[in-house]
Amino acid sequence: MHYIADLATLEGKEITLKGWVANKRSGKGLEFIVLRDGTGFCQCVVSEENAEGNSFSNANGLSLENSCELTGTVVKDEKQIGGYELQVTNVVVVHKGEEYPIQKKEHGVEFLMDKRHLWLRSKRQWAILRVRNEIIFAIHKFFQEKGFMQADAPLLTGNACEGTTTLFATDFYGEEAFLSQSGQLYGEAMAMALGKIYTFGPTFRAEKSKTRRHLSEFWMIEPEMAFYNNAMNMDLIEQFLQKVVKDVLINKKDELELLGRDTAMLEKVSQPFPRIEYKDAVKMLRGEQEVNGRNALQVLADDIKTLEAEKVEKEKEIEEREVTVNDSNVKKGVRNFNQNKIDTLKNDIKEIQEKLENLPQWIESAKNFKDGEDFGGSDETVLTKLFDSPIMVFNWPAPIKAFYMKELEGDSNYVKGVDVLAPEGYGEIVGGAERETNAEILKRKIIEHDLPMEEFEWYLDLRRYGSVPHAGFGLGLERLVSWICGISHVRESIPFPRMYGRLMP
Ligand code: 4AD
Ligand code: MG
Repeated sequence: MHYIADLATLEGKEITLKGWVANKRSGKGLEFIVLRDGTGFCQCVVSEENAEGNSFSNANGLSLENSCELTGTVVKDEKQIGGYELQVTNVVVVHKGEEYPIQKKEHGVEFLMDKRHLWLRSKRQWAILRVRNEIIFAIHKFFQEKGFMQADAPLLTGNACEGTTTLFATDFYGEEAFLSQSGQLYGEAMAMALGKIYTFGPTFRAEKSKTRRHLSEFWMIEPEMAFYNNAMNMDLIEQFLQKVVKDVLINKKDELELLGRDTAMLEKVSQPFPRIEYKDAVKMLRGEQEVNGRNALQVLADDIKTLEAEKVEKEKEIEEREVTVNDSNVKKGVRNFNQNKIDTLKNDIKEIQEKLENLPQWIESAKNFKDGEDFGGSDETVLTKLFDSPIMVFNWPAPIKAFYMKELEGDSNYVKGVDVLAPEGYGEIVGGAERETNAEILKRKIIEHDLPMEEFEWYLDLRRYGSVPHAGFGLGLERLVSWICGISHVRESIPFPRMYGRLMP
């Protein structure tokens, strides 16, 4: 059996490709089929002249997403996707079935989400999932090559790791159990046994909010290292993200191109990530502290001006194109082409309009940001606008962070946590910290956070027997996939998203 991905090694050979019809058009005595087989896409040409038996009529009868086996010769053709074409002599229909519900037109996203099991076959979704796979592979390579052990945490748990508000409760033989929000606490125990570990598994958060960053079920990678402080933790995070992004840039170039991803920002991850204390980040956000001559409030005001100018320009273009569309002397094809352009421009303007409505609120939120609070989505976006790479914000106010984070020496109001904020509006992709090692402080924090002490007894044991400094972090896989692919909503970054209001398919 042969695959499209291997066509470069098969030039001139007669082979059979098995797959699905991704696209089809007919010419005079010719059928052009874009076949997809999971490994790639390939134009296959069936000519009436060269087709055996009823192969030509078989080809003629095929429609979108019918499955078939095409036999023919591999010919180099630079113009084609993938650079090769199959000149087909034999067509076997595997299954025709019903008319495919996803057609070559604009479907609403809700419709596509309802048909997610089929939508996955589209070129864009295919590319995203291939990038996701590359990221997963790069993550394992990075940690394995550094001597980390993958160690798995349970998914059914008896306690909360990240606060009690987002727990999914379930029944465990009559006892209340929760779906894991994070493997971290178990990761800490395993780091005490194995030194450097990482967990890689699904995690669950009952987040009743419909944002483009939140899923109810997402995959998290959580390394945990014995004898690490938070500075070492940040070094590791930086190396880790640099390596993963670089691997994708090298190995999934075509997919990123297919997604229309402008990779300029991604290339910049090779620079060191600025490390900013929370206190300074607050000043930057409020416009009280400049970053390389850039002031947050000014940057936002400039954004408004730029967007307004863009809007005017696009409106002008629409007017011009409408003249062509309404001119009955112009060929139908040209008019259709212009109408499509107009539709795209109108969509662009809608997006610009949305941003123009949001920006004044962002400015207000930034200007009036209260020291000690957590950054909202827009605050994160504003902060990262001041930099050209991901940034690391560290030393956070204790009240807004989890119970396990280590207090700063001499100032218990702050903890040694770190968040990585991705540029281009993607926000927090990593959360991590040095862990509290002192059993007494930890007990106080458990009480302060209103957590049930008895359920943390085993965790406290880690501080009773050979407690050591240690640190770790958690990367949200879907947020990283979204940022790298440049997609606007996490729902497309995972095959079957689970989120508020969506359990099917
Ligand atoms: O910041 P979080 O809550 O940190 C932890 O869970 C720690 N226990 C990690 C650790 O130190 N081992 O979550 C970590 C990351 C976030 O930065 C974000 O990328 C992702 O998990 N994340 C989500 N992704 C999608 N949907 C959600 N609802 C998410 N909540 C967190
Ligand atoms: Mg966090």
